[in-house]
Amino acid sequence: MVAASYHQKPYRRVMMETWGGQVVASPSDLTQAGKAVLARDPDTGGSLGIAISEAVEDAATHPDTHYSLGSVLNHVLLHQTVIGLEAKQQMEQAGEGLPDVVIGSCGGGSNLAGLALPFVPDCGGANGGSGPRLVAVEPSSCPTLTEGRFEYDFGDEAGMTPKILMYTLGHEFIPPPIHAGGLRYHGDAPIICNLVKNGWMEAVAYPQGKVFEAALQFARTQGTIPAPETAHAIRGAIDEALAAKEAGEERVILFNYSGHGLLDLSAYDAFLHGQLVDV
Ligand SMILES: Cc1ncc(COP(=O)(O)O)c(C=O)c1O
Repeated sequence: MVAASYHQKPYRRVMMETWGGQVVASPSDLTQAGKAVLARDPDTGGSLGIAISEAVEDAATHPDTHYSLGSVLNHVLLHQTVIGLEAKQQMEQAGEGLPDVVIGSCGGGSNLAGLALPFVPDCGGANGGSGPRLVAVEPSSCPTLTEGRFEYDFGDEAGMTPKILMYTLGHEFIPPPIHAGGLRYHGDAPIICNLVKNGWMEAVAYPQGKVFEAALQFARTQGTIPAPETAHAIRGAIDEALAAKEAGEERVILFNYSGHGLLDLSAYDAFLHGQLVDV
């Protein structure tokens, strides 16, 4: 588990331990990749790229161990498209047809692509048509799509994975320890990057203070507490709604509620008590 999340989200560790897992903070001294990072910076909060290096190394050096990636690779995104296929049916059932905007938070790209990819054939995209706009929302402290370079890069810090053509901040980039740990990845899935590069998808970035303002507004009006990652999509959805109001337009906005925040209450605690910093 990435060290920043290991310390910020202890109950996730407890859940894994409850089900019999052994959890170590990454970087750890159990792998060569982890040791190399610790030698450079013993107090680092780690990154998803470092954790992937450690996991790949562990799998490669233990014959009974396999490694499965939960995002970034295109086939993972395609598995997730059941979300968008179902959302399309739900939109029809709600009598709305196609949405005007489809929004998701983007860490590696799986929840966003899962929702958005089934709408690609309907959207105008680079051709300037009138279909739904697709919007990726990322943290401004890890601005892969909005500020990264489009080039081949490793998926992990140590350079053990094949190189991937994507927007990247560099595989050695260690993002600040924001609470949306799932969005602290230096790259993004190639499908998402290609959609952005070719004008089919937009990308916006927000600092975490603005994101938590949206999270609170949502929790107080809807009753459920969103994960900090999810709150990025909510920020995007609220801003789309405000822009529509300003323009005097009706806009149907579909966003992905990717997870609850009941294991992230320490982040809410920090925000509510003025201890959450924008980095
Ligand atoms: C609740 C939640 N939403 C979104 C994400 C972002 O990941 P992805 O871009 O792969 O969907 C994560 C990642 O951990 C997450 O935990």
